[in-house]
Amino acid sequence: PEDNEANLIIRPPVVTIMGHVDHGKTSLLDAIRETNVTAGEAGGITQHIGAYQVEHNGKKITFVDTPGHAAFTAMRARGAEITDIAILVVAADDGVMPQTIEAINHAKAAEVPIIVAINKVDKPEANPDKVKQELTQHELVVEDWGGDVIAVPVSAKQRTGLDNLLEMILLVAEVNELKADPERMARGTVIEAELDKGRGPVATVLVQNGTLRIGDTIVAGHVLGRVRAMIDDKGRRVKKAGPSTPVEILGLSDVPEAGDTLVAVEDEKLAREVAAKRQIRKREEELKVTNKISLD
Ligand code: GTP
Ligand code: NA
Ligand code: MG
Repeated sequence: PEDNEANLIIRPPVVTIMGHVDHGKTSLLDAIRETNVTAGEAGGITQHIGAYQVEHNGKKITFVDTPGHAAFTAMRARGAEITDIAILVVAADDGVMPQTIEAINHAKAAEVPIIVAINKVDKPEANPDKVKQELTQHELVVEDWGGDVIAVPVSAKQRTGLDNLLEMILLVAEVNELKADPERMARGTVIEAELDKGRGPVATVLVQNGTLRIGDTIVAGHVLGRVRAMIDDKGRRVKKAGPSTPVEILGLSDVPEAGDTLVAVEDEKLAREVAAKRQIRKREEELKVTNKISLD
């Protein structure tokens, strides 16, 4: 199925946060979530899944809590491109570090625009200019130095600069004109999945295009299923999930892998075909690895 030009809508940007260990990725994600919970969502402060949406000036932004660099790299290696914008967190007291450089390289390889969040500016040792200077050595020249990279000073601890960061995200999103067709059948990526004792296989899925609905026949990787229940990032049961929406789904017959593509299909026969093809492809890949090992 393809997008119908007439149905296209602007979809929220999907943002991931990267950066060196302890530079404040989790703190920043928490600060953004907690300062952007609307009144009616008091219970929504607890994050239920590895992704959440906030609203800023009436526009939504989806944040994916990347489960560390390794998982992000693994997902990319499997061809899963979920990020529209990468936030590179650099601690202003520590500066550019090895994993900062790794993150820059990942974002560049994926051709994802980078916004730099210079964090911990509340610290007396903070030196944002030094960070900017170090970034230029990695071809990231910030705007006030004549380049085109947006850098926003923030403090996750004191919760300053967050609105500015969200504004910049929306600005970059606008320039990139992110569109999707909510009328088509859903297509997305598994962000994380596990076997829950009581509920069976549970997968957190980012719907990237189309709309996923209760009752839809789905294939995630080589795993078949039928959407039995969906839970959003606030822990609420929902009946459908549109483009750029993260949602937890129940109803898969087995546990898929992070990075697996999920598609909703017309009927079960088609689902079986897709699953079988993916199973064959997976076996072929495993065989290639085995052959390579035995040749080495
Ligand atoms: P890893 O997930 O372990 O890589 O770390 P992280 O990047 O998620 O950093 P985390 O949010 O865990 O923060 C690391 C430490 O920095 C914690 O002790 C935070 O309290 C502190 N920290 C984070 N943001 C700020 C900030 O804006 N100012 C100050 N002063 N401390 C901060
Ligand atoms: Na940490
Ligand atoms: Mg963390």
